Amino acid sequence: MDETISVTEIVSIGNSYENNMARIAAMEDEFSHTIDPILRMYNAAMNLTEARLNIIKDEFEFSGKRVPIHHIDTRLKSSKSILGKLEKKGMRLSLTEAVNNIYDIAGIRCVCPYIKDVYLIRDRILAQDDIHIIEIKDYIASPKPNGYRSLHMIIRVPVYFMGKKQMVPVEIQLRTMAMDLWASLEHDIKYKSLSGNLDSLDAMEIDFEDELLQAAELIYSAQQKLEMMNSIMEK
Ligand code: GTP
Ligand code: MG
Repeated sequence: MDETISVTEIVSIGNSYENNMARIAAMEDEFSHTIDPILRMYNAAMNLTEARLNIIKDEFEFSGKRVPIHHIDTRLKSSKSILGKLEKKGMRLSLTEAVNNIYDIAGIRCVCPYIKDVYLIRDRILAQDDIHIIEIKDYIASPKPNGYRSLHMIIRVPVYFMGKKQMVPVEIQLRTMAMDLWASLEHDIKYKSLSGNLDSLDAMEIDFEDELLQAAELIYSAQQKLEMMNSIMEK
């Protein structure tokens, strides 16, 4: 892409690192130091995208309409988890590799009341002509086998940094409050079951995957009921 600055223009890149767990801890300090200006750029992209979403929210507030956004969460991936992700994907532990392959360094979660709001926000983003769309994954139309639902967009937003325009990737997860409830609790349960005692789960003879899937479907059908009532009221 012509308009992007290369990583080497921002920081000088030393050797790329061997794919070696033992060295990760030792190089973490150096990596976090060299990645610092890059992370600032991603942080700017994240804030700019959040501002765009808040402007949409403000527009609805101003016109006295129901606001299609309930809340927005942002998170910037730490240099440690960037390294962890490169490692997991079997990639070289270098900045170039990170910048070219990791698209969720800047992450935004936009939680909406209804499913129709998710698509409204998606369309508002698609309509902004200075945003480049990299990828859209619709896990609402096609939920994951475990019951996960959300609409994921990877976009590039313009950031002016060191005198040049850089199109910086941001991952936006759009979901309803109901989908967010399930995803947050599923994450919590999955995390606890990974770090906890799996034997006790076996002893209880509970099929957690199946229970989680059933919970996802129950929550989704409650969402649809509420959405149906809302549609009648908003006609
Ligand atoms: P990576 O970006 O490499 O992690 O893989 P991917 O791009 O195939 O992942 P995907 O776009 O499907 O999901 C990315 C993010 O969505 C994750 O980091 C989570 O935040 C969220 N996510 C995806 N699947 C699940 C799930 O089953 N449960 C929960 N709680 N969150 C999920
Ligand atoms: Mg991803």
